[in-house]
Amino acid sequence: MPSSTLIFVSIIVQLSNTWAAPATLSSTIITQAGGGLPQGAPPTTLSANGISNFQLANFIENIESKFFEGVLANLSSDPAFTSTADNGISIQQVVTKVAAQEEVHKATVEATLTSNNVATIDDCTSILPITSTDEFLARANIITSISIGAIIAITASVASTDPTIVGSTTSIITVEGRHDAFFRLSASDVPNPTPFDTAISTTWAYNLILSFVVPSSCPTLPLTVLPVLTVTSPALSATAPATPPLTITFTVDPKVVKGLRLFIGWVNQANAPVYTTAVVVNGNGRASVPSGLQGTAFAALTNQNTATTVDTLTTATLAGPAAVLIS
Ligand SMILES: *[C@@H]1O[C@H](CO)[C@@H](O)[C@H](O)[C@H]1NC(C)=O
Repeated sequence: MPSSTLIFVSIIVQLSNTWAAPATLSSTIITQAGGGLPQGAPPTTLSANGISNFQLANFIENIESKFFEGVLANLSSDPAFTSTADNGISIQQVVTKVAAQEEVHKATVEATLTSNNVATIDDCTSILPITSTDEFLARANIITSISIGAIIAITASVASTDPTIVGSTTSIITVEGRHDAFFRLSASDVPNPTPFDTAISTTWAYNLILSFVVPSSCPTLPLTVLPVLTVTSPALSATAPATPPLTITFTVDPKVVKGLRLFIGWVNQANAPVYTTAVVVNGNGRASVPSGLQGTAFAALTNQNTATTVDTLTTATLAGPAAVLIS
């Protein structure tokens, strides 16, 4: 065999034994992230369930990386974002690393889909703008809490169908947890408000993450798009209230609530959902916040108070969910 053919054959063999990356990561991203795509054996064959979960993960990682990249570009002359804190580190420095790590997560999820001959998920083209560091820290805590909740759900779902992939999803959750701790600490909140993070359903994750984009600029996933629940108080803020809020007010499309007994279903930490009565008049709603919630909770409008899991509450969700910063 001529040597050029040998080289060709050896390249093919090498390629088939590595992760098939649809997009190459730049050396800058790899350096900023602290590493690139996992090296070694390619991921195992995914089940249909694994594929749909990884497509949702792709959708979420796309929005997260575009969100952090956008913020890096847009807040680059905001002193609160760029100046060095007492610990010698600026928010900009950490977010540069966060954005790069989200880029590596996205590439890793896409490589897994590609090596299963499944299409990757396109980016949403329009991310909602962030205009201040305070708004950034508030929204970054929420987007990261959504991502953590979603990856817990994805991990639980693939644990039975694709057990060998669980190691890769769990090693993403812990990094997201570190990101969230930094955003909270930068907003003068304790970094570790609760002993458990809050799992959400895949449908809830899809709907929550859509609040960061213009949904029509996104590809659609085969998951239900629920009516929006907009929390109007407590107002969005980076710093948690000194004591947990006693009530929330919200707006909702009046068409989705007519003539029903209404509740807000609350999901927080590893607890079964809890319910408080909701009153909605002309699309303006109010409900009390149950005592005992901490950290970030998720609230959804529903017409029942008996569903005991986030999945059964998801099936009974009339609008929402929305994230509520409790402490
Ligand atoms: C950044 O700025 C662009 C241009 O104004 C805007 O379209 C985008 O939504 C902004 N992104 C973020 C995350 O602020």
